[in-house]
Amino acid sequence: MESMDVREKMIYDGDPGHDDVMAILLAAGNPRIDLLGVTTVAGNAPLEMTTRNALITMDMIGADIPVAAGCSGPLVKPLYTAPFVHGESGLDGAKLFEPKRKPIQKHACDFLIDTLMESEGDISIVAAGPLTNVALALRREPAIANKIKQLVIMGGGRFGNITPAAEFNIWSDAEAARILFESEIPKVMCGLDLTYQAVATPEVMERIRAIHSPVSEFVNDFMTFYNNNSKRAGKNGAPVNDACCVAYLIDKAVFTTRHLRVDIETKGEFTYGMTCIDVFRMNSGRELKEPNVYVGDKLNFELFWNLMISSIASLG
Ligand code: BDR
Ligand code: CA
Repeated sequence: MESMDVREKMIYDGDPGHDDVMAILLAAGNPRIDLLGVTTVAGNAPLEMTTRNALITMDMIGADIPVAAGCSGPLVKPLYTAPFVHGESGLDGAKLFEPKRKPIQKHACDFLIDTLMESEGDISIVAAGPLTNVALALRREPAIANKIKQLVIMGGGRFGNITPAAEFNIWSDAEAARILFESEIPKVMCGLDLTYQAVATPEVMERIRAIHSPVSEFVNDFMTFYNNNSKRAGKNGAPVNDACCVAYLIDKAVFTTRHLRVDIETKGEFTYGMTCIDVFRMNSGRELKEPNVYVGDKLNFELFWNLMISSIASLG
């Protein structure tokens, strides 16, 4: 683990979403993370819902972390939400309420640009929804490329979950993903082959329930809904995909990475939104492109859930 003295400054961009809320809780409850803000995007549910879920989470933990609402749809294609995974609210299972906190009066892209441009280049961005906000911010202010310490993306993988080839976040806005994967921003990718190792098993759920706090009850409620959806798909629990990105910023030992070339397919009839990962450094008769992404590989399951459970416990 890195020195405890240096807190990792982080902005969370996502579409809460069950696993997004787990990621936000992980960040908010860990002393190594300085969560500067949450920016929301449409994805798992419409923007109004994902923003509301972020605000409900802040109310639950009593945190005055700014929440800025962003794009209500992808750059090019129409919005496609995922009620079959997250329910109509985006956070079904939780006892939802009208949040007291309100979003700040600034668009997510402006919040990202202003915060990054005023920084010393020491802010990491976790992007765990469709990549619309971050790509649009980069288009509006290209200088943020040199200000982002690293962009940790939940997306892609060697298989898909929305089509056989594509993962939901990348497929939701592949044009935005392509802008970012082709940028100079240092990138880490938590794809499905990594995040499917971060499953909330029955044993994990038991540990969460044993905390016996309002926050652990909130988590148990929404995770039970999320897990039940996964059980129907024959899994031993749901993967908390998005939280892998935050865990990496807390402790790099949480997963191994490989530096590889990853390109985003934006045209394929069957492969739109696929992350084309050059695992074997193929150069048969064409120019070999330089690696551009640290791709997450093997998860340390124990470490991951220890971090997650400590955060939930610390939030009361
Ligand atoms: C990703 O898509 C969303 O459903 C989740 O929140 C996660 O970010 C997994 O494919
Ligand atoms: Ca998400």
